[in-house]
Order: sequence, then C-alpha cells, then structure tokens
Amino acid sequence: MATNMTEEVAQDYPRLIDLGGAEVEVRVMGADDRLPVLKFARSLPEQDLLFLRIDITDAGIVDGWVANIKDGATLSIVAYAAEELVGYATVERNPLRWTRRVGEIRVNVAPSFRARGLGRSLTAQIFDIARAMGLKKLVAHMTADQAGAQAAFKRLGFVPEALLADHVEDRDGEAHDLVIMSYDVEGHSGQMDDPLRI
Ligand SMILES: CC(C)(COP(=O)(O)OP(=O)(O)OC[C@H]1O[C@@H](n2cnc3c(N)ncnc32)[C@H](O)[C@@H]1OP(=O)(O)O)[C@@H](O)C(=O)NCCC(=O)NCCS
Repeated sequence: MATNMTEEVAQDYPRLIDLGGAEVEVRVMGADDRLPVLKFARSLPEQDLLFLRIDITDAGIVDGWVANIKDGATLSIVAYAAEELVGYATVERNPLRWTRRVGEIRVNVAPSFRARGLGRSLTAQIFDIARAMGLKKLVAHMTADQAGAQAAFKRLGFVPEALLADHVEDRDGEAHDLVIMSYDVEGHSGQMDDPLRI
C-alpha cells in the first residue's frame, strides 16, 4: 500500500519550477538519484549536515534511504538544475504505531540556490505529500546556531517545540544545541494551496 503511495505521488512529477530565470526540475527520488544525492551531500558545509539524524555523505546510508523509499516509509523529492542536484525534501513516517501521525521532514538546498524560493517550493510540495500520507504533524531538526534555517522554517509556518542542549557534536568536538520545530498539518491545511508558488 505504501509503495502505491509513491507511485501515486510520482504521477504528479516531474514538475518544472522557474526560479527567476533558472529552471529547476523536481522529480520523485529513486535509485537513479543515489549518486547525485551523495555528490550533493558531500559538497555541503558541515553545519548543514549536523542537524541530520543520518549521515547522508555515507553511501551505505543513502542506500538505506533509497530502500526506505522502496518500502514506502519515506517519500522524497529531488530538484535538478541543468542535471545537477541542487536540493531535496523528504518526509519519513515514524515507524512506531503510536506515533504514526508524526513525520520528520528534511529540506536541504544548495548554498548557491538559497533565498530564491526553492526551499519554500520543495517544503510546500513535501507538505502535500505528507498530507497524502495521512500525517498530522511534521517535525524538523536543526542546530540552534542555524539562524537562517530557523527563520526560513518560521516563515513556512513551523514553531519551535524543543531545544536539546549540547545535542550534536561537530568534527572539532564542539557541541551544538538542537532545535526541533513542528508544524500542525491539519491546523494549517490550505495554508500552502499552491505548492509551486514561489
Ligand atoms: C532552510 C533552507 C532549506 C531554506 O531554503 P531556501 O531555498 O533558502 O528558502 P526560500 O528562499 O524558499 O525561503 C523560505 C522563506 O524563508 C525566508 N528565509 C530564507 N532564508 C532566510 C534567512 N537566512 N534569514 C531569514 N529568512 C530567510 C525567506 O524569505 C522565505 O520567506 P518568504 O517566502 O515568506 O519571503 C536552506 O537554508 C537550507 O538548505 N539550509 C540548510 C539545511 C537546513 O538547515 N535545513 C533545515 C532542517 S530540515
């Protein structure tokens, strides 16, 4: 059933977005995106990876991600500009029955494509997918010092819900606080009616 959901969502893709001159194609992620995702992840600054619960610079972890997509536990979209992966958004259903209503989303846009509306568009599309999956609440993790990401997520309707002190450690051994922001899907339904609006 879950796999049918991926197929259902895939019918709406690919989609083209015009980012003020640069054309971006958004596709449903599959096995073919494995190498572009790895290349993208390895090009990101470390602070953009610290919020992730999984290390997406690791080929085995990306294989696991692709396997979760095949199983239907995760649905992801990837954005390409001139065949270069420039961003992704993903939603993962919590596997426990009693927290099945909650999905975790991750959005990441290449630094050179930020502040042009791509993050908003990818997030809006992943909201629609999360709704189609029947999710009621979305959570997103980010480090407390990522002021830009927090500001962007506030603009997208998320509210800070928890602060976990000294929760993640960077390569230099420095600890960072982790912020969990959340979004009530039902309470905000209709807020983002047009996922391609930029
Ligand atoms: C968070 C992130 C996805 C935003 O992507 P983006 O393409 O730059 O976002 P957009 O250009 O669509 O901006 C979305 C909104 O946030 C605002 N915004 C974006 N960057 C901002 C910043 N640095 N400071 C303040 N506001 C910001 C925009 O003005 C926009 O609001 P508006 O449409 O109401 O004007 C991107 O910064 C990123 O990949 N960060 C690293 C990964 C990360 O921390 N992800 C969050 C955890 S899931």
